[in-house]
This record gives sequence, C-alpha cells and structure tokens, in this order.
Amino acid sequence: MLFTKNDFGEGFKWGVSTAAHQVEGAHNIDGKGLSIWDTFAEKKNKIFNNDNANTACDFYTHYADDIALIYKLNIPNYRFSISWSRILPHGVGAINHKGIDFYNRVIDFCLELGIEPWITLYHWDLPHDLQQKGGWTNREVIHWFSYFVDCCLKNFGDRVKHWMVLNEPMVFTGAGYFLGVHAPGKKGLSSFLAAAHHAALCQAEGGRMIRSLRHDCKVGTTFSYSHIEPYRADNEKDIRAAVKADALLNRLFIEPLLGLGYPTKDVKIIERIERFMYPHDEQKLAFDMDFIGLQNYTRELIAHAPLIPFVHAKIIKASKRNVPHTLMDWEIHPPSIYHALKRYNNYKGIKEIIVTENGAAFPDVHEEGKVNDFERVKYLQDHIAQVLKAKQEGVKVNGYFVWTLMDNFEWAEGYFPRFGLVYVDFTTQQRVVKNSGRWYSQFLKNTVTASMEVWEKNGSKMI
Ligand code: BGC
Repeated sequence: MLFTKNDFGEGFKWGVSTAAHQVEGAHNIDGKGLSIWDTFAEKKNKIFNNDNANTACDFYTHYADDIALIYKLNIPNYRFSISWSRILPHGVGAINHKGIDFYNRVIDFCLELGIEPWITLYHWDLPHDLQQKGGWTNREVIHWFSYFVDCCLKNFGDRVKHWMVLNEPMVFTGAGYFLGVHAPGKKGLSSFLAAAHHAALCQAEGGRMIRSLRHDCKVGTTFSYSHIEPYRADNEKDIRAAVKADALLNRLFIEPLLGLGYPTKDVKIIERIERFMYPHDEQKLAFDMDFIGLQNYTRELIAHAPLIPFVHAKIIKASKRNVPHTLMDWEIHPPSIYHALKRYNNYKGIKEIIVTENGAAFPDVHEEGKVNDFERVKYLQDHIAQVLKAKQEGVKVNGYFVWTLMDNFEWAEGYFPRFGLVYVDFTTQQRVVKNSGRWYSQFLKNTVTASMEVWEKNGSKMI
C-alpha cells in the first residue's frame, strides 16, 4: 500500500511520546522526591540487569537538545508526562518550585519551536511517600491525585491544551498490584481490585477537574489494547478464555468510563471489586472525554489454563508460536491496531481516538554514526497503513504518536529493549537518529511515501 501523510488529512495529529521516569533521570536532583520506581529499582533482581532510571537519558539536562531534535525531525506534537514527585516531593503539600520551573522550560521551548505539548498526568511514577500509605490501594489516592491534577493545571494549563489523565491503568495496576513485576511490586487479587477501582475513579475525576479548571483544554486518557484471539480458533475452552482475557485486559477501564460499568459478566472475579465501591461510585466512574488515547503494540493469543489462578487463561508467547516478534516477544501483527480502532469506534460515546503509542523494540546496531533499523521502519509503515485503512472506513481516529522519541528505561526490562527513533548511548548520552527517525521525519515532511521499496531506493539517500 502506497500512501503519504496527505491521505490522513490536514488536522491529523502526528507526534512522538515519552514518559518522565523513562527519560528524565535526575532522580534526586533539585528537590525531587523519590517515586515508587526509584525505590523499586533499589531492590535486587526486580529489573533486568538491576538497571535503574537514576540517569536514564538525562532529559532533565538535555531537554533543549532533545526538543530541538523533535523539531528537526519535523514532528509537530510531543507527548510527555509530569513526574508527580518532582513537583510535589511528598505527593501532596509543599510544591517544589524547581520542578515546576523545569516543566515550564520544557513547555515554553516546545511552544517556541511550534511543537504542541501533550501532557500525561500519571505515567506510573507514584510518589514513594504515598505508597507508604498504601498507594493506589488507599481510597485517599483520589484526594492526593486531585491535589496533583490541580497543581499541574494551575501551573501549566494556560499553555498546554491537550491533557491525558492516566497512562494505561490496566498495566500499572495489573503489573504493579497483581503480578508484582512492576513498582510497587504488590501481589494479589485484593490489592489489584482496590487499585483498579481507585484508578478508574481517578481517571474520571481527573477528567472532570481538568474540564472545570480549563474550558479551553482537550481532555483524554489512555488505554493499552491488544487484539485478542483464542489460541485454537475452534476450541470452546480457548474461546471462553479469550473472552475473559479480553474483558480483563481491554475492557476493564474503558467501559466504566463510558458509563457501561465493569465487565463482570465476562470475567466473574471482577465482581469482587464491589467490595471497594461506595454508594454512587458507578456514576462517578463515568466521564465524557474529548478523546481516547489508544496504545497498541501487538495481538495476544489466549489458551485455557486451568492452573492459572482466577482467570484460568494464559497468553501463548509469540516465540512459542514461532511467529515474527520484537525483542519484547510481542508478535508483529499490524492488523491488531486496525481491529483495536474498529472496536473502539463501535463504542457509543467516544468522540475522537488518538493513537498515543505504537512502536517496537529491535536489536539495533550502532555503526559509524548510523543505525539501520529497517525492521522498525517496516513496523511503523505497516501499522500506520492499518490506521489509514481504519480512517478510510470512517473510524474517528485523528492522531498517531510513535513510542518513543529515544531509547530509554523500559521499566522491568531496563535498558535492554530499545524502542526509540533515536539511539541513545547511555554512557556518553550521545543521540544518533536511526533510519526509522529519518524515515518518520521525511514522511512528516511529506517527501516520502510509506513504502519500504521506495524508501530503500530513494528515501535513505535523501537525508
Ligand atoms: C507504556 C510505555 C512503555 C511501552 C513499551 C506502554 O505500555 O506506556 O511506558 O515503554 O508500552 O513497553
């Protein structure tokens, strides 16, 4: 399929995403308080190679060069998050003005270069002091979070017009409070359901607050979404397991937001969330966002697994199925993003969808100032083609952001998987634009089509 940026129309938002904890570093500099990821990384064997994000890409120091690079790459929108404990070291209470100053510099420099800043309020780095009081499992988190939202909107809301409340609540509650593989490393159904319910309340409450504080802002929130299919298409048990996994992974947070309640019918254990519900919570879970951020990387095949507690379902990994996959062992399956978009579009009440993350980790090699990551170029082209297909069929998708600008701290996987359009040498902090970054830049300048063949013949010579 041959297409150009023009096929998406004038108003389509092209961008790139990062998150505070993954890029900023400066974890204890200029008054920043610790976050749960800072303390989680201090424990042994929680993170691949025992890496931590104390320095990461040192965006705290290099932000101007990095934003200038976004400009040079012709990327008009930049999505980043605010580190809660950088501006409120204890989560609530005293403000750290040096933290506020930092984000003011980031925002102002974006605007100076004509780059539109998009802010995610919460991208997983809860202040450590709040975790000491139970973190997301404590209903008080709604007040703490409101305090943080208020602080961000009052300080940055005059210039930032696009806000996202939460980043992928299913991932930070599931991995952080059920499986214990992400910070804060808690396990168990009870802590997960409490955290999930409070996060679902916060996503709606955050939306309400932003709208009431600033009428001129667009408010959204983001969700992870992997297209799900049964491992054996004709096996009844796998089919049922897939329905359950889909309800848990793809529907748990978006449906209450849309006023549909939790998907308890398809995944029984969710009924126990009622233990954490107060009168009128059902209504409080709903809010009409201006846009929904969709984040897609892969599809998942699900098999019945009687020994897996609660869900009796498991993901069959791509490497096990012998299908093409990325370094995360995620299948490369571009139609997944198309199915995700179609599915969201079918929900009543979604006004606009923005793909706020899509990208891939491959074993990049840096040689003589070049990184020829042709697999990533192809991944991006194939996924963008699927977005276009959905758009041409009438899906209300109006933006696409690559995950991510530059290689960074990939949570429990440390620095091993590189997702960036820009290569980072973590010893010298040198940045090298990969071929994927060059391709995206030329595509956005509208001088190349999205075709591997054309790009290989001409595009790479054009830079
Ligand atoms: C998260 C990012 C993460 C990416 C790749 C998303 O789940 O929002 O922070 O780096 O996926 O794993």
